[in-house]
Amino acid sequence: MQLSTRHLLGIKNLTKEDISLILSTAEQFKEVLQRPVKKVPSLRDVTIVNLFYESSTRTRFSFELAEKRLSADVINFSTSGSSVSKGETLLDTVNNILSMKVNMVVLRHSASGAPHFLANHIPAAIINAGDGINEHPTQALLDAFTIKEKLGNLNGVKVAIIGDIMHSRVSMSNIYLLTKMGAKVTVCGPPTLIPKYIREAFGVEVNYNLKETLDWCDVANVLRIQLERQDQVLFSSLREYNLAYGVSKNLLDSLKKEIIVMHPGPVNRGVELDSDVMDSKQSVILQQVENGVAVRMAVLYLLSNRTN
Ligand code: NCD
Repeated sequence: MQLSTRHLLGIKNLTKEDISLILSTAEQFKEVLQRPVKKVPSLRDVTIVNLFYESSTRTRFSFELAEKRLSADVINFSTSGSSVSKGETLLDTVNNILSMKVNMVVLRHSASGAPHFLANHIPAAIINAGDGINEHPTQALLDAFTIKEKLGNLNGVKVAIIGDIMHSRVSMSNIYLLTKMGAKVTVCGPPTLIPKYIREAFGVEVNYNLKETLDWCDVANVLRIQLERQDQVLFSSLREYNLAYGVSKNLLDSLKKEIIVMHPGPVNRGVELDSDVMDSKQSVILQQVENGVAVRMAVLYLLSNRTN
């Protein structure tokens, strides 16, 4: 089995079969990661550059670890300390790196569409590690993997995505993936943080009431407010946001069933999630991080099979 694409630019262009193939391959790599020797030779002689033009902790370490577990050669780039500060363009930077015989590029960039632009101009395989407000495909894949691991299935599962839907690339990739795989999605947050035509455009439900949304769902994926991507005042204060949309232990305890709480990180404790929720057994946040390595191994492995 092969992926239908040479690059992973987003979930939007993946088929259901691509998603299933990535998730089942990730299950095998998760098993590898439980062994005393966690390293396999699959990507020996493949060289990968991790190009991070925007801050990252989890995604960056997760990709680097996935690459090393697959025996790839890895180089890391971050804008501070690079020639970007001397005025070099993205394309020039990448072409210079590729001339050193690099096979794959993992790119995080604040501009939506940056990986798509690169894919049109360079021969290497590109993996989008988050582009502006557009997509973060490996995050949605690891979220789906975690849901499947917990509930056995994606089809028919009720997922609430809560928070800054408008500026979050995690919400877009999750919506594409979950709706393709037959899950039911409701987005919840202040009206100013939810795009107006999201129901018609993406086939999701909208509910501005947090309690009602939590009562409905099996899984709550709670998102950070992307203050760095907002250039106007969209809600009164973080304190009031927490009162209306913060997920608290009291709220969870008032529900009829025990739901699963997810978050892509970084969490602003006391804003979108209360501390005791984050640390409770309902939260699978650290399992998401753990699963991220296996999912990224699967993506790198399947894409390298296509380019070699
Ligand atoms: C997310 C991102 O960068 O889009 N983080 C991540 O990759 N785990 C979410 C966020 O920054 O809020």
